[in-house]
Amino acid sequence: MTQASRKILVTSALPYANGPIHLGHMLEYIQTDIWSRFQKLRGHECHYICADDAHGTPIMLKAQQLGITPEEMIAQVNKEHQADFADFGVGFDNYHSTHSEENRAYSSEIYLKLKENGHIKTKTIAQLFDPEKEMFLPDRFVKGTCPKCKSEDQYGDNCDNCGATYSPTELINPKSAVSGATPVMKETEHFFFDLPAFEDMLKAWTHSGSLQEEMANKLNEWFEQGLQQWDITRDSPYFGFEIPGAPGKYFYVWLDAPIGYMGSFKNLCDRRDDLNFDDFWGKDSDAEVYHFIGKDIVYFHSLFWPAMLEGAGFRKPNAVFAHGYVTVNGAKMSKSKGTFIKARTYLDNLQPEYLRYYYAAKLNSRINDLDLDLEDFVQRVNSDLIGKLVNIASRTAGFITKRFDGKLADKVEDEHILQHCIDKQAVIADLYEQREFSKAMREVMALADMANAYIAEQAPWKLAKDDATLEQAHQVCTLALSIFKVLVTYLKPVLPTLAKDVEDFLDVELTWKDLDARLFGKAINPFKALMQRIDPKHVEAMVEQSKENLEASVVAPAEAEEEAAKGPLADDPIADEIQFDDFAKIDLRIARIAKAEHVKEANKLLRLELDLGGETKQVFAGIKSAYSPEDLEGKLTVMVANLAPRKMRFGVSEGMVLAAGPGGKDLWILEPHEGAQPGMRVK
Ligand code: MSP
Ligand code: ZN
Repeated sequence: MTQASRKILVTSALPYANGPIHLGHMLEYIQTDIWSRFQKLRGHECHYICADDAHGTPIMLKAQQLGITPEEMIAQVNKEHQADFADFGVGFDNYHSTHSEENRAYSSEIYLKLKENGHIKTKTIAQLFDPEKEMFLPDRFVKGTCPKCKSEDQYGDNCDNCGATYSPTELINPKSAVSGATPVMKETEHFFFDLPAFEDMLKAWTHSGSLQEEMANKLNEWFEQGLQQWDITRDSPYFGFEIPGAPGKYFYVWLDAPIGYMGSFKNLCDRRDDLNFDDFWGKDSDAEVYHFIGKDIVYFHSLFWPAMLEGAGFRKPNAVFAHGYVTVNGAKMSKSKGTFIKARTYLDNLQPEYLRYYYAAKLNSRINDLDLDLEDFVQRVNSDLIGKLVNIASRTAGFITKRFDGKLADKVEDEHILQHCIDKQAVIADLYEQREFSKAMREVMALADMANAYIAEQAPWKLAKDDATLEQAHQVCTLALSIFKVLVTYLKPVLPTLAKDVEDFLDVELTWKDLDARLFGKAINPFKALMQRIDPKHVEAMVEQSKENLEASVVAPAEAEEEAAKGPLADDPIADEIQFDDFAKIDLRIARIAKAEHVKEANKLLRLELDLGGETKQVFAGIKSAYSPEDLEGKLTVMVANLAPRKMRFGVSEGMVLAAGPGGKDLWILEPHEGAQPGMRVK
């Protein structure tokens, strides 16, 4: 592979230091890690940089709530974050904190340069102030009644009920979410960054071709709406950096957060003689800089950040790569459903590489959301990684050890399949480079299918039985393991631990440049199971534990906001509109549960006999997790009486009873008010 070595700096967004890493975050760190490992494997100089984002009001308040200093809290969280990432195999070259001297220095430098260049404006603004806590209140820390729909207990910036956006001063009966006091208006002097001055530069950058199409479209919308001056000031008390020359005024967390990319890199440079900060960030740098981020923080990274860099005389990133949000089982991650899964809870139950593979198998270069469907996860990982990939080695390695003294054959007559796999290198590399990981995984699995078909057709277990074909068996197993080596090399960015184990097994380093080096004649080590199938009960345990540790975790304000937007409607929005005629087709009737009983061998179902006042229908209902038969007998409920009968293993089900709730214990069947009689139509 002759390709000039590139100099690359890659970052992931800096996670907030007030809460644990969850599987939503992990999408980003896994995506970036795969890309960075890929670049390194191809021989490029690549540095993967990250840090905790340690400043801001939520962090200050959370520490107060815990009765510790913010410094103590962020140190503790930093340790936890780093342990989570390390255990997921995320190989940062440096992980630092925005609350660091390096970051303070660059934040001051950038601010002072912006000021010197006339990009900082001063304005007096009026903001709500908590007279008890003696602090200005961010919009999210004011609550009150929505001025539009009058719904109570809404945040200061928008209403969860009607979706209206407004300023916190418009709230009816506003209260400080920190102390409960009624806030007062107070004037304060703030510094603003002159974003509109950079419009032309930003437009040119948007059209430079390095942004994803969806992102460029978004930016165009923002240009149309008009860019605004950006308030970069927060008043004391605040946990952050004090603004030089302005006692009591602090940089807003989003000013120093992206500068944290530089601070962390500087921290690395200071420990390494061969790295020079300016080679990567200086105006004339020929290095490549890429930021991987989630879709929610595009504004900060594609407008404020390049404008700040430009205005302060630094280079701009080559590209910002945004990804979508992780949903679990088709819905927003939910604490009550146990699908708000912390990285640590996952690691307590499952191997990290299962998730790394699943995310890779679904990731592409676009900004769409990615669903972690837990059933599909088990099925996909078991079928691809164990059933296809590892299977190649587990079906052939034993013969090498037992029959051929642990040595591969010296030559293989027909190695065209191996060559075919090696020839895929350019295609697969290009897919990694373009962040089309799902396509890359599909290519590799297609090769694995081919290898398995070859093994099945040659049947080395038969060939090995007969001395006349023993040599052929040797060659088949050798070829299969040679292909295995190539495929695991392709997957090394995704599965670093598996790759390491395979390196030990084959006693060879897996590198892309030696992809075509043959293993013929080589001694290898006895095969040990490389990966276990996922047992679904571990997934269930993880979900259960995620429900349990709901209580244990202190909900940070940022998470509390997320929670507020959850609930049945957010998780499962109202279905498409129907006409009355559609509804009238459904014949709902009051029914008396005449009999309820367990069904042998069915662990979810109860058999119900429903009396409709003259006619009895049998229904199998999946409500056993929430009800025992004796709770139900004699009660009234509502059934769908004209549903086509369905044949089940245990008998025919002639309708459905109506129930609500997410499932498990949380299931409630409908019961009419007193007076309703069996057989009455519900309309
Ligand atoms: N601190 C800021 C980033 C500052 S970067 C200079 C922040 N932190 S965060 O902890 O809220 O999120 C960190 C990253 O994780 C963001 O890129 C965010 O988009 C991503 N994700 C958080 N939840 C996510 C999902 N559910 N799914 C996918 N990515 C998610 O934002
Ligand atoms: Zn409202």
